[in-house]
Amino acid sequence: MSLPTNPISAGDIRDKLIIGLDIPSVEEARAVVTRIGDAGTFYKIGYQLAYAGGFEFARELIGQGKKVFLDLKLHDIGNTVEAGVRSVAKLGATFLTVHAYPQTMRAAVAGKAGTNLKILAVTVLTSYDDNDLVEAGYAPVSAADLVARRAGQARDLNIDGIVCAATEARSVRAIVGPDRLIVTPGIRPSGADAGDQKRIVTPAEGIRLGADHLVVARPIVKAADPKAAVEAIVREIAETTA
Ligand code: C5P
Repeated sequence: MSLPTNPISAGDIRDKLIIGLDIPSVEEARAVVTRIGDAGTFYKIGYQLAYAGGFEFARELIGQGKKVFLDLKLHDIGNTVEAGVRSVAKLGATFLTVHAYPQTMRAAVAGKAGTNLKILAVTVLTSYDDNDLVEAGYAPVSAADLVARRAGQARDLNIDGIVCAATEARSVRAIVGPDRLIVTPGIRPSGADAGDQKRIVTPAEGIRLGADHLVVARPIVKAADPKAAVEAIVREIAETTA
């Protein structure tokens, strides 16, 4: 069964916050989504929940009018990526991530043709530094240079947007221009625990640095009151964009 993709509303500030459902089971995820209610409109499902019933749960959310970002970071031979992307588009997802390799990006763009799915490219994983790239077999290249090169390739291949740290958003924006989306994790409301995120910024800083959407998981899903946490972040985004 194909579901239509729920459209992002430019006038609805809630769509700027993507709530990361980094949660082990559908039951727990459903409970969090229910508690958040109308305060949250956009949810991200990554490996953990996707492989624990999360695809069916994505359909459930889309059926309720929510937007879903499937953070699957696809990378395979072109034929497989294209077919996989076609299936994700039928699910009615709004965003899907792929690794920013040219073959993979070309195949993803072909797979989503004729649908409203948007493809986001992950340039270089933020856990990789220059030494990790050498260990992975790359000739010495800085992570920053590789991010820039891949952002340019994503733009040239008509990818819809880039996932990057807010601290990289300005340099990525200069490469991809005003019409591509920039989606940034590593966001922490003032006073929140950084967890394992190193280059964190507040929601207001993320928006000021040029992010179109912010991804926030633990500060919301682990909060005593997830709905209040969502409302506080949406308020901060609204004040920054006003
Ligand atoms: O809990 P927290 O807000 O740090 O979660 C951020 C989300 O964004 C997680 O789902 C994480 O996998 C994702 N992410 C990230 N850094 C990246 C890409 C994705 O934190 N570079």
